[in-house]
Amino acid sequence: MHEISLHILDLVENSTGAGANKVTVTLEEDSHHDELRLCITDNGRGMDAGLVAKVTDPFVTSRTTRKVGLGLPLMDMTTQLCGGYLRIDSAVGQGTKVEASWKMSHLDRPPLGNLVATVKAILVTNPELHFQYDHRVDDRSFTLDSGEIRAALGDLPLTQPDVLDWLDQYLKENLSILYGGKAK
Ligand SMILES: Nc1ncnc2c1ncn2[C@@H]1O[C@H](COP(=O)(O)OP(=O)(O)OP(=O)(O)O)[C@@H](O)[C@H]1O
Ligand SMILES: [Mg+2]
Repeated sequence: MHEISLHILDLVENSTGAGANKVTVTLEEDSHHDELRLCITDNGRGMDAGLVAKVTDPFVTSRTTRKVGLGLPLMDMTTQLCGGYLRIDSAVGQGTKVEASWKMSHLDRPPLGNLVATVKAILVTNPELHFQYDHRVDDRSFTLDSGEIRAALGDLPLTQPDVLDWLDQYLKENLSILYGGKAK
């Protein structure tokens, strides 16, 4: 089963692949409406209406290494299967917003997966990217901004082992607070 965190990696890769240097990931766990929402916005090259309309077809891709792109079609499938939706809003030269929703309690809803590893991987593999991660669980929220992290680190590279350990701890602590201190 594809995890939400892998969808996040796929979508961020789409954004950076489209030339974006700013990407925001918003994850909202809304138990009141029994809904899980994921929204990714970027300032990449965008897509025209024709491509947006076709992009959930697996045979539409700008990849040159293979003929199928699976990221968006797979999300389209899992969201529909789980009483949700996938919406893509894009404008050429401006950027793209991909919004996905799943019914949270649906038996086939993909698990969140390892969000700590995902956020770390995005930061480490995209040192120039202005990346923002917003995670909301009902009325609690946590925001990580890559600009703030890099400013706090000064000259220390994110790839240094003790910096990575610190980032790991920082993310784990904040996600734990988000879940009311309960292990997730
Ligand atoms: N954020 C985006 N900005 C601009 N174009 C995008 C964006 N996301 C997707 N696209 C376009 O839609 C196509 C399909 O995306 P999709 O994620 O489904 O497959 P892929 O990225 O080509 O391959 P895969 O995800 O399997 O590695 C991309 O090749 C690209 O042309
Ligand atoms: Mg993709």
